[in-house]
Amino acid sequence: MATILITGGAGFIGSNTAEYFLNKGWRVIVFDNFSREGALRNRLWLESFDAPRLKIVEGDIRDFTTLRALVRRADAVIHLAAQVAVTTSVENPLHDFEVNALGTLNILEAIRRAAQYRRATPPLIFMSTNKVYGNIDTPIALTPTRYYFTRLRSGISEKTQLDFHSPYGCSKGAADQYVRDYARIYGLKTVVFRSSCIYGARQFGTEDQGWVAYLARKALLGEAFTVYGDGKQVRDVLYVSDLIRAFDAALKYIKCSKYISGEIFNIGGGLENTLSLLEFIEILRKKTQNPSVAYSFAEWRPGDQKVYVSDITKLKKTLGWKPFISVEAGIDRLFNWLRSAECTEH
Ligand SMILES: NC(=O)c1ccc[n+]([C@@H]2O[C@H](COP(=O)([O-])OP(=O)(O)OC[C@H]3O[C@@H](n4cnc5c(N)ncnc54)[C@H](O)[C@@H]3O)[C@@H](O)[C@H]2O)c1
Repeated sequence: MATILITGGAGFIGSNTAEYFLNKGWRVIVFDNFSREGALRNRLWLESFDAPRLKIVEGDIRDFTTLRALVRRADAVIHLAAQVAVTTSVENPLHDFEVNALGTLNILEAIRRAAQYRRATPPLIFMSTNKVYGNIDTPIALTPTRYYFTRLRSGISEKTQLDFHSPYGCSKGAADQYVRDYARIYGLKTVVFRSSCIYGARQFGTEDQGWVAYLARKALLGEAFTVYGDGKQVRDVLYVSDLIRAFDAALKYIKCSKYISGEIFNIGGGLENTLSLLEFIEILRKKTQNPSVAYSFAEWRPGDQKVYVSDITKLKKTLGWKPFISVEAGIDRLFNWLRSAECTEH
């Protein structure tokens, strides 16, 4: 029975990933400091499975000694623990750097040093972000509800020039490059996913991060929210279970072939699954049967991209992966969870 270590395993993506690998028969170690809103709820939810194969370890990604001991027991590592909000990174860039850049280096070093004790070191999957591309310098145009690229018809590919914006962009970007380079220089088996917007059940979204779940919950509660910018900004959105299938595919692939080691893949819903804020508000009106969903506009925030759509061709071709869950079906699933008893007290 193989063991997977999931850092940030009580977060949105982490808790869904933990459930997935438990169902697949893995031993799962969830490592988290429970700093994120909702992380303790996700912990209780995971504990409710009463799964003897689940171990939850409270700790900080900056604590190298603990990480080193955990990595020794792992056959695979998915590194998700992070300071995740651009706004928070602007307020406290030092903390952001320590958690995102140094925390990732800790994981890499723990894996590299595991080679002293075993023949094969565990593969590592790292969640990077589209923010590493910054404000992409390409022509855009506008319809009444959304921005769109006029030239980049397939979206943003991995070949796009890196241009880190915001402390969060810098710390995740540094981590992204370390993860890639540890494959090159030390032969670690690593894969980087540069992710656009992920959404779904177990996402305790806030104004600063996790906008799909945050706005959906606000609309359900009949509470007003703020739209930063003009609401026409576009993202490709991906339901969380589709992301986790990509993690699984990458782990399977990397086991039998070194070919994808050190590779970087853009991941998101791609061209077929895009949404602007104004379009999402229209969906919220229908889902909540409330024609007057309340919101106001405010200035753009630092680092906000007007349009970002991932080109997912490389991932499709290399891993045979593609999104299964349409925006409509994903939003239905999100609403089912938001309406569930488990979530209403939030
Ligand atoms: N959700 C998205 O749309 C998205 C997009 C791009 C990248 N990502 C990346 O994916 C990863 C997971 O994101 P998420 O949406 O699940 O966020 P999340 O905030 O729900 O999960 C992060 C988890 O890390 C934990 N954590 C924070 N600081 C820690 C520390 N110092 N030590 C240990 N644990 C710590 C938090 O308690 C939380 O449970 C992050 O690395 C994020 O940057 C997410």
